[in-house]
Amino acid sequence: MTSAAKHVDEARLWGRHMDMAAIGARTDGGVNRQALSAEDARARALLVEWARSLGFDVASDPIGNLFVRREGTERGATPVLTGSHLDSQPTGGKFDGAYGVLAGFEALEALQLGGIVTRRPIELVAWCNEEGSRFAPGAMGSAAFAHALPLETALAIKDREDKTVGAALAEMPTLPPRPLGFPVHAYVEAHIEQGPVLEREAKTIGAVTGIQGSQWFTVEVRGAEAHAGTAPLRTRQDALKAAVAMIAALETWMADETDRVRFTVGRLDVSPNSPNTVPGRVVFTIDFRHPDGAVLVRLGDGIERICHENARGCAVTVTKNFDAPPCAFDPRIIDTIEQSAAILGLSRMRLPSGAFHDAKHMVDLCPTGMIFVPCEKGISHNPVENAKPSDLAAGARVLATVLEELAR
Ligand code: GLV
Ligand code: MN
Ligand code: MN
Repeated sequence: MTSAAKHVDEARLWGRHMDMAAIGARTDGGVNRQALSAEDARARALLVEWARSLGFDVASDPIGNLFVRREGTERGATPVLTGSHLDSQPTGGKFDGAYGVLAGFEALEALQLGGIVTRRPIELVAWCNEEGSRFAPGAMGSAAFAHALPLETALAIKDREDKTVGAALAEMPTLPPRPLGFPVHAYVEAHIEQGPVLEREAKTIGAVTGIQGSQWFTVEVRGAEAHAGTAPLRTRQDALKAAVAMIAALETWMADETDRVRFTVGRLDVSPNSPNTVPGRVVFTIDFRHPDGAVLVRLGDGIERICHENARGCAVTVTKNFDAPPCAFDPRIIDTIEQSAAILGLSRMRLPSGAFHDAKHMVDLCPTGMIFVPCEKGISHNPVENAKPSDLAAGARVLATVLEELAR
């Protein structure tokens, strides 16, 4: 084992997952720790407490990305960056995102315990709002860091209660400030796979080759409220029935014999949501993904037309609020991950990511890669999401080895 990997402690890493999962714990075993909520604030505070107890500096940038820094020996050397996110889905699990932050922290602690000196600083980041569940789109903190999303635009995005990102950020713990974006030598993110491949192939480590493309849309359908008992069907502008027709037509548009398209309508807000009033307004979301950029564009370009064709007399506004083409990770980082897994005697394979991650924004800034570990039955974005302590520790050992190598 390399020097840092030797000091990765499975029980400590698991314990930190359980401590973190207690923040926003749901009664069903899952986690509800949405971005910039009171729970997110507590999670951040806990990470800061752990970091300071080891003597690391912490800082936060204007979009609320939180950094923990372990110094290197060379003044001015660009840092190696690792991390993921602490926010969760409303019905999230204990590992999505938290694992990448805690594995990164475990790697920093392992380097510390081993007395390992690196030339470059190594920094851990907890990116702000990766999930995009409360404030869309996701991967917001990394997008702003990479200047793929203007800061002012991000700060003005509202949740369903009309609270802005900027207002919610003001409720997070106050930390030493840091400007948005800085040069990074390399970025490596650890994450549970969130799919079934590693478990099925009985491999402990996934060297991720890239991330499939995704687009998000918000569709607003405006009809007219009317009395359910008196308004003839022929005269109605029923926003819900129009939305249902749009969704059915989109399902047909997205049909794919190869089963590679991922198409989800995850939110449907109906107004006034009353049994005896014809719905006057519906807002629904579309999340769709494909590994082929050309297919992604072709399918995405049809969405607005299909919604208008099925509007049934209602007014429709289609807004695209996320457009991420597929990305490929750096072959040198992929090789380093595989070699590190080999040195540690761990089974491994290459695989693409179906989920998006903050790493996708880092691809444009520096050599980037990701390490996957298996999760039970591939289930994620679900309270029952689970992973084995030994797999989490194995991934942290690979991460520590890769970071040590990159920062040497
Ligand atoms: C990330 O949470 C995703 O939706 O892929
Ligand atoms: Mn995640
Ligand atoms: Mn997620």
